[in-house]
Amino acid sequence: MSQNNSRQSGRADVGVIVVAAGSGQRLGLGIPKARVLCAGRTLLEHALQGVLAAGVADVVVVVLPPGDDVLSAVVAREADIAQGHQVLAVTGGRTRTASVRAGLEALPSSIRTVLVHDAARALTPPGVFRRVSEAVAAGMAAVIPVVPVVDTVKIVQGNMVTETPDRAALRAVQTPQGFDRATLLAAHAGEASDDPRVTDDAMLMEAGGVGVHVVDGDPLAFKVTTALDLVVAEAVLARVIPAQPRPATD
Ligand code: C5P
Repeated sequence: MSQNNSRQSGRADVGVIVVAAGSGQRLGLGIPKARVLCAGRTLLEHALQGVLAAGVADVVVVVLPPGDDVLSAVVAREADIAQGHQVLAVTGGRTRTASVRAGLEALPSSIRTVLVHDAARALTPPGVFRRVSEAVAAGMAAVIPVVPVVDTVKIVQGNMVTETPDRAALRAVQTPQGFDRATLLAAHAGEASDDPRVTDDAMLMEAGGVGVHVVDGDPLAFKVTTALDLVVAEAVLARVIPAQPRPATD
């Protein structure tokens, strides 16, 4: 789809918030996760490439750890080369919810639909962005991509199992999560937004009684959290990115 056509079909009033302000403690490399290199590029660069390739939004707000010059430079570079997109950087907060809120505050008033995306889901295919934004455009106020759960999941208290939920009814939740902007703002203004147990925006919607719809996610939208995830991401990139031409030597 050409850029002009896609603007006419509505992407001008869609904004993506990419949250990249996490510390990456579980990865254990001592730097923010978004700065970790994977196949020679930062996770944030991979994530932004996916967002821009999806072509669902004109405005991209990237939420960064305070004072991170390396990631600020990544965003500035992407902003320079991202034709037809406005790419901005803002500083995040102590929790993911606070970081999303910082992104929301930076969105231009023209934005009606917001997709919230974890930079850590750096290999998310364009199709996931499209499925989510199309569902919001079709009138759903809250949409999340999900995949089936392969493990049996137990509820545990102390060292004892108290319950085994029916696996067939369980789904693992990914991002981008898509929302009607006004509904998301109202959810972030509610009491639940201060609850440290809130791990995604859909939970705030649920707390406010808003129905949350699901669409198909994708295994490649996995969250890079551990060293093993990084190995998997490197292996995926080694297969999907064509070999770069060798620089000419003379
Ligand atoms: O910590 P978790 O794995 O839930 O983080 C998911 C996403 O939220 C990551 O992309 C991370 O950078 C982001 N995040 C953030 N601000 C925080 C905590 C997490 O932007 N304070």
